Amino acid sequence: MVKDAPIGVFDSGVGGLSVLDEIQQLLPHESLLYVADCGHIPYGEKTPAFIRERSRLVAEFFRAQGAKAFVIACNTATVAAVADLRQDYPDWPLVGMEPAVKPAAAATRSGVVGVLATTGTLQSAKFAALLDRFATDVRVITQPCPGLVELIETGDLDSPALRQLLQGYIEPLLSAGCDTIILGCTHYPFLKPLLAQMLPPSIILIDTGAAVARQLKRLLGERELLALGDPEPAQFWTSGDVYHLRNILPTLWKHSGVVRSFGS
Ligand code: DGL
Repeated sequence: MVKDAPIGVFDSGVGGLSVLDEIQQLLPHESLLYVADCGHIPYGEKTPAFIRERSRLVAEFFRAQGAKAFVIACNTATVAAVADLRQDYPDWPLVGMEPAVKPAAAATRSGVVGVLATTGTLQSAKFAALLDRFATDVRVITQPCPGLVELIETGDLDSPALRQLLQGYIEPLLSAGCDTIILGCTHYPFLKPLLAQMLPPSIILIDTGAAVARQLKRLLGERELLALGDPEPAQFWTSGDVYHLRNILPTLWKHSGVVRSFGS
């Protein structure tokens, strides 16, 4: 692997752009590749076997592009596929992500933590293990959020439909006394401005994008693979509508970018 090889970042859709942004801020010399599997959204309602197959396809694509590292910028794909991918590519730096239970348990003062995530993440054995490990002294209220990802994918982050759906998902957390809410899906950080209007200001929101970027930096540093020169512009692929992603990219990524079709 060479230092100036790109890093592959993957999500079921546009959610991973929230992670891509953190990576670009922390590692401005890195060239970034991004695959959005928008043609198969939402992963939250798919079987782990299906998600593993899609994740492996994307991993192979990034290998063919010469990527020096692979970031699964998706909680749902991580719980389904990360163990298999680590076995398949033992020498490839690979970063997955999981809901930030440990920092949330440390942050709560009420002792009640809420988790917004996909059905797939919340039902996984990996998430159960995370609770067993880090949430022994707090009460955790989990809230699956079907439909939310599809609305975020439209790129309209302030629609009445989105507000209404979100309201229904945060209400049970607030009535249970949560003072800390984990955004356990990479799509949800895009809801922060809306959540700031809908939640009391004392509520702490926790997501993991910045921690993932730090972990990536650590892994690359250990292997002396951190890029030093000028990066290539970020490149994007989608298995969904290329024009749609191109149109909403400036809203979600703050820049425009070349978007190509990710076949199959
Ligand atoms: N962005 C993904 C995550 O972090 C899930 C989106 C989906 O359901 O496809 O879990």
